[in-house]
Amino acid sequence: MTSLSVLILAAGKGVRLKSDLPKVLHPLAGRPLIEYALEAAEAVTESKPVLVIGHGAEAVRAALGERTIYVTQAEQLGTGHAVQQAEPVLKNKSDYVLVTYGDMPLLRAETLQALVEAQTRNPGPLTMLTINSEKLRDFGRIVRDANGNVRMIVEAAQITDEHRHITEFNVGAYCFKANWLWDALPRLPLSPKGEYYLTDVVQFAAAEGGHVATITLQDETEVIGINTRAQLAEAETALRRRVNEKWMDAGVTLIDPATTYIDPTAQLGRDTCVLPNTHIWGRSVVGENCVIGPNTIVRDTVIGNRCCVECSVLESASLADEVTVGPFAHLRPGARLERGVHLGNFGEVKNSTLGPGTLMGHFSYIGDATIGAGVNIGAGTITCNFDGVKKNPTVIEDGAFVGSDTLLVAPVKVGERGRTGAGAVVTKDVPPDSLAVGMPARVIRKLKS
Ligand code: UD1
Ligand code: CA
Repeated sequence: MTSLSVLILAAGKGVRLKSDLPKVLHPLAGRPLIEYALEAAEAVTESKPVLVIGHGAEAVRAALGERTIYVTQAEQLGTGHAVQQAEPVLKNKSDYVLVTYGDMPLLRAETLQALVEAQTRNPGPLTMLTINSEKLRDFGRIVRDANGNVRMIVEAAQITDEHRHITEFNVGAYCFKANWLWDALPRLPLSPKGEYYLTDVVQFAAAEGGHVATITLQDETEVIGINTRAQLAEAETALRRRVNEKWMDAGVTLIDPATTYIDPTAQLGRDTCVLPNTHIWGRSVVGENCVIGPNTIVRDTVIGNRCCVECSVLESASLADEVTVGPFAHLRPGARLERGVHLGNFGEVKNSTLGPGTLMGHFSYIGDATIGAGVNIGAGTITCNFDGVKKNPTVIEDGAFVGSDTLLVAPVKVGERGRTGAGAVVTKDVPPDSLAVGMPARVIRKLKS
């Protein structure tokens, strides 16, 4: 028996999103929003989190795979009913059960940890998160007695004038004594809305004289729940600010954080400067002392130290140290630029390596090529890598000089220090230390090496 199980509720339809996609799969900073609740859960327990699914269950399973244990709630009869569905999976499995909602992606793992710790010290049956706020009108209100003890939670749908003034709200995360929870759930009353509210267990605890402990959250962004598209945008902004502040604290300069989009999973090195309107997505890693942007998209790309990338798009590429890219370059999957490479304007590189110190200044396409060190790729060079059926490789060895407007009809190779003349159409290998010109190109001279 482990001491803590985590249950995440995610069966709701998310009616107010007006979407065909299940609510918890809507992307937040590029990832399904359920992943944030899952990650927080994984940080507080060794055991696999349990997820209650219903609407779009198949899609949720497909997105998350083996990462969680699934419990299906066929009919969405409320949060209390949802928790009850997990009883067969969780009963006698742990001392405590932490329940969270899958639509609150900004709730921090540290907050859940504090909640669990508070409950282990509480002799009563549960500890819950609350927040004081003037604006959270849709949340359940915390009703306390004259001594300040929690008596019950009143949902917004059932609010009357008696409780409307209350400004302490239910965040929607609770740590329960497990046995107490399983006993309480079957006693839940049906609400006027025809649902079994988890929040109604609180009045049972109070009636039994059990202490309902609370932790009051300070940071309002943690409680942003996703019920509408506007809240989705609000969460996006709050998450972005959180991530950006982390990197600024770590020594990264963001010229305009409001237009800097950094994936929560990306990494940035000290003294790197990110210029406006730059997107660093996925598991990208940017080294130290780089300048990235403006107007740049970096996706799943690894960038070394002291690199400059200006107005460019980089996808699943890798750059060693001291590489300069752009403006207006496009690195596609498998592009690998070794130390000191310069890739100038309108260059496109796909599934190719450019060796150390190689220069490719102007509008070229390099695909399926292996290019050595110190090579010069002239303006307008194209690897003709696709013959209509398959992709063919091009090899350009160290020190070669490819003249402007050269077409390299792959498979083809330019040997060490080989040269091509401007406008050459290279259909046969160019031997080392040779100059080939014309269409089709032929070797006209052996060069002194
Ligand atoms: C809930 C709380 C409210 C709290 C608010 C904070 C209840 C009754 N109310 O209201 O006190 O202030 O969250 O965000 O709990 N779900 C299921 N099955 C269901 C119903 C809901 O799995 O039958 C899931 C939803 O997918 C969602 C979560 O439970 O992830 C919360 O449900 P939602 O309908 O969003 O509750 P709120 O109205 O926000
Ligand atoms: Ca909600």
